[in-house]
Amino acid sequence: MSPGVGPTARGDDLESRFPTPEGIPAEVRWTPDDTGLTLLVDGRLEKWEGPSQQIGSAVSVRDGNALHPVELGPAALASGAKGLEAVRAAARAWKGGRGDWPRSSVEERIACVQGFARRAAPLRERVARALMWEVGKPYRDCLVEFDRTFQYVEDTVETLRRMEKEAAALVAAGGFAARIRRAPLGVSLCLGPYNYAVNEVFTTVIPALIMGNPVVMKTPRYGVLSNALLAPALAESFPPGVVNLLTGSGPTVIGPVMESGLVDVLALIGSARTANVLERQHPKPYRLRSVLGMGAKNPAIVLADADLDGAVREIVSGALTFNGQRCTAIKHVLVQREVAETMVVRLSAAVSALRIGMPWEEGVVITPLPDPEKPPFLEGLVRDAVAHGAAVVNPGGGAWKGTLFVPALVHPVPPEALLYHEEQFGPVVPVSVFDHAEEALDVVDRSEVGQQASIFGRNPAVIGVLVDHLANMVCRVNLDTQCRRGPDVFPFAGRKDSAVGTLSVHDALRTFSIRSLVAVPAEQRDLLRSLGGRSKFLARPPD
Ligand code: G3H
Repeated sequence: MSPGVGPTARGDDLESRFPTPEGIPAEVRWTPDDTGLTLLVDGRLEKWEGPSQQIGSAVSVRDGNALHPVELGPAALASGAKGLEAVRAAARAWKGGRGDWPRSSVEERIACVQGFARRAAPLRERVARALMWEVGKPYRDCLVEFDRTFQYVEDTVETLRRMEKEAAALVAAGGFAARIRRAPLGVSLCLGPYNYAVNEVFTTVIPALIMGNPVVMKTPRYGVLSNALLAPALAESFPPGVVNLLTGSGPTVIGPVMESGLVDVLALIGSARTANVLERQHPKPYRLRSVLGMGAKNPAIVLADADLDGAVREIVSGALTFNGQRCTAIKHVLVQREVAETMVVRLSAAVSALRIGMPWEEGVVITPLPDPEKPPFLEGLVRDAVAHGAAVVNPGGGAWKGTLFVPALVHPVPPEALLYHEEQFGPVVPVSVFDHAEEALDVVDRSEVGQQASIFGRNPAVIGVLVDHLANMVCRVNLDTQCRRGPDVFPFAGRKDSAVGTLSVHDALRTFSIRSLVAVPAEQRDLLRSLGGRSKFLARPPD
């Protein structure tokens, strides 16, 4: 156990937060089985018989002085050959755009997607429980993640129907009449992150599918079970080859998929480094449409006249919900000098009040991290900041045991420290001080990422100027509230190394499609109408 770098060690009793094997409540226990070996390729559900690895939970159990990650069952380590089989199945379903799926009507596709949602609904608690064990997210938040995902599915169906109606009228211009609609792009490879292992997988998979693109999806590093549990529902709901699910190590299983040149759309929520590797593996990267959600270092800018209590509430929740493992988390607090000391004292009290425990316990905020490498990484960032003159303000902050890390409020973090620039993606909250608002803008300007920012203040003259600068530097400015992705109808985008493309319910449908049209000389416009009974592309949407 690390003693922590804070003034007192709230970490002393960290070990006792982990349960003994008998201490796990019966109603939340996980009985390991072979779910993690499930693959879906070309419409066939199979149990992978090749190499596998044990899925270790974020949660450990105490055994004397030792901690052992709870074992959740084996996970497939699918081969490159299996990846190729999957992408070839998707390519057959696409068939150069001539497959049944890309030529099906929107209503036919909607029926499949709704069938999937219907079959998935009874799995809600089981998927949420798998998610809780795999990634350590509080159980109630796992249920929220499941519900939000299927609300997204419903909203997608409704939005697509609306878009179809809006595109129903013929467009007349320059002596032509045309029917302009959105058509699919081709085989889509969808890779989601572990922090939203269900939600951020399906918020690309569903729009891709519903627009007519066959999909190859790979489960995240942590979050295999929660996705594999949904594989039977996928298999029953979509025709063979239309959706394929793989589990394994990215370089092994996805490398050959990209090198095949069969992928037309790359949807990755992960890191810029991975995106760069994958894009370069494609033999014709210029053909690839990429939609990427990557890193962020969203600042909270606290001006001297801010409502400090409100700012503290939003910043602590924004920085530490799910242990700060959200791309949208507040990852740098920039405070105007006049209120810096007061703000730090209040932040420290609020951080210390957060409940630390196991993800099934009521009211917990800080829970075990799924990546066992994360605590030493975070400790390194904190120690580096301390070496550069900062201190850990909250008692026991930065102490850790196993995968449980006491959140650390670190102040004042100077530009020389790694924590000032690097994305921590964990429960560490760096605070830096500025004198003039311009300096806060410089921090964002110099950053390699540009997703969102929050401003806390009252003076419209100052806030107005900040907004005008930040709107061109990030893709969402939040006033008096934390950074976040939702509501899912809002565009979710970023600049620089933060994102490529925009995701929202509406934007995702556009991202996974391209406008295509049929034109006739204006005097023959009736031809377009008369073909509506013969062509699914030209058919008018149902009223
Ligand atoms: O990790 C990135 C997620 O898209 C964040 O979503 O702001 O709703 O937690 P959220």
